[in-house]
Amino acid sequence: MNFNNFPKFQLPRLQLPRLDLPEWIAPKKDLPPLAIGDLRAAVPIVQGGMGVGISLAGLAAAVAEAGGIGVIAANAIGMIEPDYYDDGRAADQRALRSEIRRARARTRGVIGVNLMVAVNDFHELLQVVVEERPDIVFLGAGLPLRGIPVAALRAANVKVAPIVSSGRAARLIFTHWRKSYGDVPDAVVVEGPLAGGHLGFKPEQIDDPAYALERIVPDVIAEVRPFEAGCGRAIPVIAGGGVYTGADIHRILRLGARGVQLGTRFVATDECDADPRFKEAYVRCRAEDIVIIKSPVGLPGRAIRNPFLEEVARGARRSFRCPWRCLESCDARAAAYCISLALDSARQGRLDEGFAFAGANAHRVDRIVPVRELMDGLKAEYAAAVEAAARSIGDEYARLVERWKGLKDEYGAAVARLAELRDEYERAWNERIARLKNDYENVWPDKIAALRAEYEGAWNEKAAAVREQYEAAVAALEQLRAGGLDLQAEPR
Ligand SMILES: Cc1cc2nc3c(=O)[nH]c(=O)nc-3n(C[C@H](O)[C@H](O)[C@H](O)COP(=O)(O)O)c2cc1C
Repeated sequence: MNFNNFPKFQLPRLQLPRLDLPEWIAPKKDLPPLAIGDLRAAVPIVQGGMGVGISLAGLAAAVAEAGGIGVIAANAIGMIEPDYYDDGRAADQRALRSEIRRARARTRGVIGVNLMVAVNDFHELLQVVVEERPDIVFLGAGLPLRGIPVAALRAANVKVAPIVSSGRAARLIFTHWRKSYGDVPDAVVVEGPLAGGHLGFKPEQIDDPAYALERIVPDVIAEVRPFEAGCGRAIPVIAGGGVYTGADIHRILRLGARGVQLGTRFVATDECDADPRFKEAYVRCRAEDIVIIKSPVGLPGRAIRNPFLEEVARGARRSFRCPWRCLESCDARAAAYCISLALDSARQGRLDEGFAFAGANAHRVDRIVPVRELMDGLKAEYAAAVEAAARSIGDEYARLVERWKGLKDEYGAAVARLAELRDEYERAWNERIARLKNDYENVWPDKIAALRAEYEGAWNEKAAAVREQYEAAVAALEQLRAGGLDLQAEPR
């Protein structure tokens, strides 16, 4: 027997992961540029198109000058012309053409046009876009599916970005475009339910968290991603509706959006093309004044409550002459008022004859500022948000390092305890083996000899007794035989 073969006690080897952590974290604090194909805006801020006449060349050029994308809203833009009621279509086209040219004359920045698919002169206005070549056209209030002059827009180098409220709508548009035009849009704007103006949501969806911008942005990104491989270019997603501060921009970009679209903030600027009284309505309004209305367009809209809207809500009807049925979905005979006329009146500061569309955050506006100041403020807030995020990552990192150090100490203590246990074990094992060996070599031979002696002694005694009994029996038998007992005789 080999007593040296006792089980070995192996100390476990713990491989601690190497943490190659940066010595310092240097976050990029500048707003990243927004690239849409070969078009580039220095800051990823799109000024949402705002009709009627709220965002014209003045606002658009100022935003473009500040590095963002300035957008002229084209729907009912002809209302700024004196002859709209004579020929609305012609006035719309003339006004759009002239506003694009005015904006171009003021800036070399990025200029866009916002077109509503739902207006009856959509295709004529799109033709003006092809001819006047703004950098990009945003197509909202309906799905831009049929009759889009994609080849002409491409030839004019005008980028196209539909405005959607869901991933499903984005998929529908992209699938249709690929099939019908062998092409896909260049970018997508996703507008959440906190936006101002007409909303692409059912009234019950507006406050439902399932439709919050933060929820639909990832959906839209996921839907357009497969199309990027097909067309070999990135399709940036731009998100808007309730984006108010630089911190909001930071949050939305972290969701994967490449840009943001802001409306409300740009209304409260010196350069916004609306009358100062329109802007003052923003400064004055409180949270409870911002309401959802049912617009004659057939969509819900967000606006600032005023006597005009209260009257309409009570069922009053404003008589009007419909100049040319500008909206496909509007039934002028049934409508309580003309939406274009109401918005145009508000633009001119006559809020008793109309109302101001506004985003859910309009009550946060406390003053009117130049676009440049607004943009600088947003950039600074964004930088602060990046720093705060980096700080919290840094704090988390420091916490992890501490935890890691703690674990390392704990591990060291555990290994030391294991070494102790191993020594104890080996000591105990060696002692026991030594005892067993001693027993085997010294104690057991004596014991076995004693047992053997005991066995042999017992056996001899027993054998002698048995032999004695046997012999006595044999003697008794002999005696019987001598007494004449015939052991062979049959019993009688
Ligand atoms: C006064 C006003 C008018 C608007 N008009 C239009 C419009 O004509 N077409 C459009 O696509 N969006 C329109 N919008 C939506 C904006 O373009 C933008 O997407 C939205 O306001 C973003 O939300 P925010 O206001 O919370 O920033 C309008 C918004 C406002 C506040």
